Amino acid sequence: MTFSLRQMSIRTRFGLLALAPLLLLVTLLLFLPPDGVERAEWAQFIGRFHLLSIHFPIALILLVPVLEIAGRIRRFPDLRASVDFLLALATFSAIVALTLGWCLARSGGYSGSLVTQHMWGGIFVAALSWLCWMLHGRFLGQRLDFIYAFGLVVAVGLVSWTGYRGGQLSQGENHLTEHMPTVLRDWLRLPQEDKGPTAAASTSFFTICVEPVFAGHCNSCHGPSKQRSRLRLDSYEAVMRGGKHGVIVKAGNPQGSELFHRVTLPAGDDKFMPAEGKRPLSADEVKLLELWIAAGASPSLAADAIKGAPTNAVSTVADVTFEEIDTAAVEKRRAPLASAVAQLQKRFPDVLEYESRGSADLVVNVSLMGAKFGDKDMAALKPLAEQIVVADFSDTAITDGSAAFIAVMKRLRVLRLMHTQVTDTTLHMLGDLNQLESLNVFGTAVTPGALQVAARWPKLQHLYTGETKIPADVQVSEAVRGKLVF
Ligand code: HEC
Repeated sequence: MTFSLRQMSIRTRFGLLALAPLLLLVTLLLFLPPDGVERAEWAQFIGRFHLLSIHFPIALILLVPVLEIAGRIRRFPDLRASVDFLLALATFSAIVALTLGWCLARSGGYSGSLVTQHMWGGIFVAALSWLCWMLHGRFLGQRLDFIYAFGLVVAVGLVSWTGYRGGQLSQGENHLTEHMPTVLRDWLRLPQEDKGPTAAASTSFFTICVEPVFAGHCNSCHGPSKQRSRLRLDSYEAVMRGGKHGVIVKAGNPQGSELFHRVTLPAGDDKFMPAEGKRPLSADEVKLLELWIAAGASPSLAADAIKGAPTNAVSTVADVTFEEIDTAAVEKRRAPLASAVAQLQKRFPDVLEYESRGSADLVVNVSLMGAKFGDKDMAALKPLAEQIVVADFSDTAITDGSAAFIAVMKRLRVLRLMHTQVTDTTLHMLGDLNQLESLNVFGTAVTPGALQVAARWPKLQHLYTGETKIPADVQVSEAVRGKLVF
């Protein structure tokens, strides 16, 4: 009797000792949850040991019911004697793994519901393990013994669920079903996996060529479960929003874009992306990013509108779009424009193209002509004005004198007027361009006075106002808020 009393008190003492860090962890999770911000290197260093240490408590907790059941077989009665010790070890090792896990989550840029669920799962596993340890063998044959058994069953279930969530964090949300054979998938009535970008509904260059690059190389650190540097690259909006240090894509200017800069640094550079020695992008993938930014970083520009894209990297484009093209119909739509297009192509070689093989819409880029293109040349575009959907007049000699010609390009989605002489006057004349998604007036004399007109463009997503007279802290109306890019 004395022996058992002494044993109980030792257990109670250790039990109380374990309770203190457990409560501390709960407090930490409540008041300092993972918030996606990265912190000290050393905390991340220690945190990484979470992945190593976590398997210890998992194995111990799963072993307990095995011993409990096997110990009931007459030949192995001794097995049950070690359950007490095992539960103590499981509780303490769970606490260590939890502490490391909290360090990792809090300092390693994690946030979101996945990591929160994983952490609370871990806390409850440790708490249940503690409870089972405290109850084990104390109330032989009484109702509380039933609670012990029940606690054990729940703990096993919870360990599996928490481990699954952890797997999703490190291996991706569909890590268990990704390679599941179709037969099993059908039997379980799971939807078929999307096998990459071909399944994408949209045929834009961004969806087909750019998103897969991010998905394959970047989103493990810049995606739903981890936002290193507060940057996400898993949607067009997120890419354009940028990270902790602001915008990473400057439409039309790859060299000036942080995104492009990061992937073209020498591989050993601290700032090289993908970070931490992950496999660098291939030359083709880098090229795709460059072409996309150079062509205006549009969410909707058709995949085959960008010439010179590495073909094998965009082979999916062929599958998705070329099949759907009804050449005869396209020819028919292009026919009324044909002579005007041919004339203009002769006068200005290389500035005019169809937006895509299946389209009669036009893309005009005269920026390469520089000062050789001015207001007087604008008239030449007039016959085609309503077919032009993307226009780049950057670096040319145009002034407000061109505004009237631009104003009739009613279907413009992307307009670039970087480094030109245009002023507020031009912008005020463009108020009826209700298809406009992106306008770039970088390096012009545009002032905050021009911003009222921006509120009239219902589809506007980005207005690039860097190096204009618009200050970065300018007060803007609700309609324009969040759309200015400096
Ligand atoms: C292994 C994790 C990891 C991967 C994979 C990764 N990054 Fe990063 N990224 C980071 C970390 C950490 C930072 C913050 C430190 C820094 O700025 O260098 C960061 C920062 C950035 C920034 C700067 C954002 C800002 O506002 O400060 C850009 C841009 C970026 N990454 C782009 C990419 C691209 C593009 C890829 C894929 C080709 C990629 N990253 C893949 C970890 C990663």
